[in-house]
Amino acid sequence: MKGSIDLGVQPRGNAFPKPDGLAGEFFYPLIVGMCDSCAMVQLMADIPQEVRYHDQYPYRASNSTVHSAHFAGVAHRLLRTELTGHDRFIVEIGCNDGVMLASIAEAGVRHLGVEPSQEVAELARSRGIEVLPRFFDEETAAQIRAGYGPADVIFGANVIAHISHLDSVLKGAVTLLGPDGVFVFEEPYLGAVVEQTAFDLFYDEHSFVFSVSSIRAAARLFGLDLVDAEPLAIHGGSMRYTLAKRGARRPTPAVAELLAAERARGLDRHATLEELNRRAERVRDDLTSLLRSLRAEGKRVAGYGAPAKITTVTNYCGIGADLIPYVCDSTPSKQNRVVAGSHIPVVPPSVFRRDRPDYAVLFAWNHAEEIMEKESGFTGRWIVYIPEVRIL
Ligand code: TMP
Repeated sequence: MKGSIDLGVQPRGNAFPKPDGLAGEFFYPLIVGMCDSCAMVQLMADIPQEVRYHDQYPYRASNSTVHSAHFAGVAHRLLRTELTGHDRFIVEIGCNDGVMLASIAEAGVRHLGVEPSQEVAELARSRGIEVLPRFFDEETAAQIRAGYGPADVIFGANVIAHISHLDSVLKGAVTLLGPDGVFVFEEPYLGAVVEQTAFDLFYDEHSFVFSVSSIRAAARLFGLDLVDAEPLAIHGGSMRYTLAKRGARRPTPAVAELLAAERARGLDRHATLEELNRRAERVRDDLTSLLRSLRAEGKRVAGYGAPAKITTVTNYCGIGADLIPYVCDSTPSKQNRVVAGSHIPVVPPSVFRRDRPDYAVLFAWNHAEEIMEKESGFTGRWIVYIPEVRIL
């Protein structure tokens, strides 16, 4: 495996240190490579998961109304399809604050959330969800099977690609699923990352960026078939994968169609990542020169949204508080902290509304519609950098 994308030395995407706690920040080389045999796109460095998903892990899945509606929709679809009949059982890996399982619990269906980050696990519990505070792997799967019986569904959203021990997760799925059970997960899609030059989706938590072909190859190694794949608009372009035990279900036509489309687009070739690297460099050069000229003109620029992605972009581009004095974000646990490495302060959206900057860089670009609607009173101009730098 060789590295094809070099995003420089980076801190943890979701670290959000306190302004007085900057000593000893953790940095690592963010280099992205592709496996020569299965074309799995992955980080060359492996950051220990205990460092990433600590007790105060700040991400809240329920923070966006669009996402909340999406996950309620996922729950209702599973209730109508895989979870009909007597005493069905669903396990969610990384249930976060219970955004999906809340609807399952409300329907009275047996469920278990597996969530190692304590603060979000507590939020899920407060919604009536049963939570096992652990990382999901082979051992956890065996423990759940012994205590609760086989699962009809294992679900995960924006979490499976975060787990560097993917082999143990897939072995665990085989252990935990009943004979006709399915492992359904949705994750940012390599095809969308390449198409949109979304290089900021690479950060320490995204150990992998999956494609249909790489997931099919990985699943096969452990006795699982990829039986469905469904493109989703969420998180800037995701894919929902459905795995079943070998031979248990017939793959839908979508699998072969998507595999052919991926081959045609070169998603299994190093050259595709190298081209993405060149486009990222162009975004970096354009964004920094735009921000420098705005500063020279005396314009006031703010950032909007502090997703983990902001850490990658600002550190890769060398953008600090000199170019963007603050970024606003609605997540209370990120406010009054700073973006790791670049040290841009994170403030509540009320500061942005009061300050009325001339320009706002939209870092939470995957929530563009929701944010622009919410900020329809904003009189300045939006700057976007995905897929290229533009002033709207
Ligand atoms: P995400 O892209 O990982 O979902 O993170 C989006 C970030 O943007 C998250 O920190 C919350 C923030 N956000 C706002 O500040 N205002 C909003 O209206 C929305 C939708 C998100």
